[in-house]
Amino acid sequence: MNIRVLDSQEQLDDIAAEYLIGAVERRPDAVLGLATGSTPIGIYEKMVEKHRSRHISFREATTFNLDEYVGLAPDHEQSYASYMNKHLFQHIDLPATHAHLPNGMAASLEEECKHYERMLAEQPVDIQLLGLGHNGHIGFNEPGDTLSGDTHAVVLQERTRDANARFFDSKDDVPTHAITMGVGSILKAKTIILAVRGADKADIVREALFGPISTECPASLLQTHGDVIVLLDREAGRKL
Ligand code: GLP
Repeated sequence: MNIRVLDSQEQLDDIAAEYLIGAVERRPDAVLGLATGSTPIGIYEKMVEKHRSRHISFREATTFNLDEYVGLAPDHEQSYASYMNKHLFQHIDLPATHAHLPNGMAASLEEECKHYERMLAEQPVDIQLLGLGHNGHIGFNEPGDTLSGDTHAVVLQERTRDANARFFDSKDDVPTHAITMGVGSILKAKTIILAVRGADKADIVREALFGPISTECPASLLQTHGDVIVLLDREAGRKL
C-alpha cells in the first residue's frame, strides 16, 4: 500500500482528482469507479476544474458507482444518483448512458444486482475511488461474520444510518437498505484510491490498514490488493 498523509484538504482533493482524471487523459475510454459521502465532494470539484482547464473529455469514459439506497428514485434529493449529478455529472461531458449506479427502485433487487455485476464484468474498473465508513465499511459493505463478494442488497447498520442522517430531514427518512458492490467486486479494480478525512476516522484508518484482515472491518481486505493508494489528511492519519 502506498500511504500518504497530506498537509491540506486541498492537496488530498487534488491528488485524488489527478489519479482519476489522469486515467481518462491517458486512455479516454477508461472505466472509473466512483464513491459518495462528504469526502469525494472536493475531489469531484477538482476533477471538474481539471476537465475544463485541460480540456479532458469524458465522452468515451464509463463510470460505475459503488452503491445506492433502496427505495429512493434517482431524482430524490438524497439519492446517490442526485449526488453524482450535482457534484460531477452535470459539470462534465460524460454521456448519461455511460454513468452507472445501481437502481434502488428495481422491482427485483436480486436481478438488478446480477445485472450490475454483469456490466462490471464486461467493463472492469480501472481505478476505484473509495471512502471509509466509521465502522470500516466500504461502499455499503457493513462489518459482520461474513461478507458478500458480488453486488448485493444490504441492511444498513444503525451507526451508518445515524452517520448519514445529517443529509436527511430526520433519521426516519434514511433508507434501511441499499445495493452495494461487494468487496469482491471492489477488489477487482486495477487501482484503488482510499481517501479519508477527519480525526473521527483515525482509529478505523489504523485498524483497516494495519489491523487483522477480517470481515469485522471490511476495509481491511484492501490489504490483500496489490495497488492501493491511501490518501489521508493529517487528522485521519494521526494514529499511524
Ligand atoms: C457512505 C457511503 C460510503 C462512504 C461513507 C463515508 O456510507 N456509502 O461509500 O465511504 O459514507 O462517507 P463520508 O466521506 O461522508 O464520511
